[in-house]
Amino acid sequence: MDQIIVRGNGPLKGEIPIAGAKNACLTLMPATLLTDQPLTLTNAPRLSDIRTMTALLQSLGAEVAGLQEGQVLALSSHALTSHRADYDIVRKMRASILVLGPMLARDGVAEVSLPGGCAIGARPVDLHLRALEAMGASLDLRDGYVHARAPHGGLRGAVFEFPLVSVGATENALMAATLARGTTVLKNVAREPEIVDLARCLRAMGARIEGEGTGTLTIEGVDALHGATHPVVTDRIELGTYMLAPAMCGGEVECIGGRIELLEAFCEKLDEAGLVVEETARGIKVSRPNGRVRAVNVTTAPFPGFPTDLQAQFMALMCLADGTSILEETIFENRFMHAPELARMGARIEVQGGHATVHGVETLRGAPVMATDLRASVSLILAGMAAEGQTTVSRVYHLDRGYEHVVRKLRAVGAHIERVKED
Ligand code: UD1
Repeated sequence: MDQIIVRGNGPLKGEIPIAGAKNACLTLMPATLLTDQPLTLTNAPRLSDIRTMTALLQSLGAEVAGLQEGQVLALSSHALTSHRADYDIVRKMRASILVLGPMLARDGVAEVSLPGGCAIGARPVDLHLRALEAMGASLDLRDGYVHARAPHGGLRGAVFEFPLVSVGATENALMAATLARGTTVLKNVAREPEIVDLARCLRAMGARIEGEGTGTLTIEGVDALHGATHPVVTDRIELGTYMLAPAMCGGEVECIGGRIELLEAFCEKLDEAGLVVEETARGIKVSRPNGRVRAVNVTTAPFPGFPTDLQAQFMALMCLADGTSILEETIFENRFMHAPELARMGARIEVQGGHATVHGVETLRGAPVMATDLRASVSLILAGMAAEGQTTVSRVYHLDRGYEHVVRKLRAVGAHIERVKED
């Protein structure tokens, strides 16, 4: 298995191109299942999660070709040869559940393995299932699979209010509703930019949707969707992660393709911490004036709140802040696994339930650490870049799920980072 070696750094300078969003692409790809015509996604990120979704769609009979070194995905689901999403693929990636709604809406039948637990919490899929049930689906949970059937004549439009905001359940229900008979009103839906991107793509495919980016989606079902070409929205989590690089090490980095509207709550926290964040013609530029950043408190929340997917990286910054900060995690119940790893580097963090209290220290020291999940792994790299000496991050396969060319992108702005094979 590979490792990443990071040596503490001076100020960074340069630019980093930001890729298309992993989480948007993972919901746009299953949209191919809604039509027999081709769907082309441009600005796709090159990541192992995208390869996993490709394998899943191919196992159902879809054709998926990566063009232009994988930045363009040509998808076509002329006819589905299987309606079963197998445990072997689903267990690798929870987003596999997103094939359920489209398959059910198009062909009236779907079998999808239940994703099971994951490192950052229990993460059930009950809301996905309840929304589809409201549209008339009958569901049977047996042998670890959801066996779903649409009523005779297909799914029906319905009014459904989500008891809590779920990104994935909103996406599944939205896709299913595009082909349901009549009008569907989904209330208390997620408002993430990835949902807006999905709605735009579905609309380009002929769907009738209103309200994306608000708490209510209204979908008028149509008989069939057609092909489209759609550019994947910028990855706001990759963007936020690289915005933290100059925050940690000093210097100035421009993230190309970034926009503040994707990350307003996060940008406000960087501002409070004393960083300079400016929108430029090409993206977002972040610089750190001399001296330490200030400690600030953060509570994660659904969009437009502070994203849970940037909590680990922000904690790395707070480890070096002047003062004490409290980070509250409200989305996932077990998402502080990076804290003990950061502590190995000299960070002072106390975790109690959903709160982490971070007492800023003047210096971190390099150490061997272990990546526990995708966002945790990159927080350790950021910490390593600001630490004295050498940090070795193992289990970096987590990183390959969500960050394309991380070593190349960080080296381009002056970071001392390399990837090596473990002995
Ligand atoms: C998506 C993102 C993930 C991000 C998360 C929250 C993708 C592929 N992943 O995950 O990176 O961290 O949004 O912004 O887009 N829940 C239920 N029942 C359900 C569904 C969810 O109780 O049926 C709970 C979850 O356990 C969690 C909360 O709702 O506590 C939010 O989860 P959700 O928004 O669904 O996250 P994902 O779509 O899995």
